[in-house]
Amino acid sequence: MVGVWEFITNVTAASSLLSSGAAPSIGAITPYTLPALPYAYDALEPSISGQIMELHHGKHHQTYITNLNKALEASVAALAQGNLQDHAAQLSAIRFNGGGHINHSLFWRGLAPASSQDASPDTAPRLQAAIASTWGDLDAFKAAFAAELLAIQGSGWGWLIREKGTGLLRIVTLANQEAVVMGDVPVLGVDMWEHAYYLQYLNGKAAYVENIWNVINWKTAEERFVGEREDVFAGLKATISPSV
Ligand SMILES: [Fe+2]
Repeated sequence: MVGVWEFITNVTAASSLLSSGAAPSIGAITPYTLPALPYAYDALEPSISGQIMELHHGKHHQTYITNLNKALEASVAALAQGNLQDHAAQLSAIRFNGGGHINHSLFWRGLAPASSQDASPDTAPRLQAAIASTWGDLDAFKAAFAAELLAIQGSGWGWLIREKGTGLLRIVTLANQEAVVMGDVPVLGVDMWEHAYYLQYLNGKAAYVENIWNVINWKTAEERFVGEREDVFAGLKATISPSV
């Protein structure tokens, strides 16, 4: 059993399927489906409009999933025939659309209506303490995070991560739909693609970055910070079942 993201990012996992038998055959992929939002489309207003949320979730995220499933299917079909060149041709699409699915799935669960208890930083005492010891206080962290987000050129994401090995907090920005998949733990993230804010904020990117703090789900952030990395990605589990 090979986890899909392992399969996407780890050439060894893919090539072991190719090298383990004369004519490996690969079973079915479970297609990814759009996860339901844990709140209504208009629940994040006025920080993020219902129109943006509906398009962002129902159209943009769905498109990443549709294209991920197509690319995975083509990739696995090529591998099943021992056709490495056609498999390799799909990897860029898998990485991009797989990253889009991962990033948005984490993003939705990282937000909460401003009126909910989960949107209060008080629900994240251990994370708050770590933020204070790293940046001085929450406002200093927000300022540092905003500076990084606003410095992204083109489309991308900003994440607060728990660094692999050290366990320290760090701010990272990633271009396009690159995802936090190399051992670090994504604690909270902000989508800096124009589709995330333009309909409401137009070119006022700084206002979007300022207002999103009203709807950050600190409870989720705390759980990611103190929990196991596997649990952060648990909702993304799907399988490719090799039958070699
Ligand atoms: Fe997005």
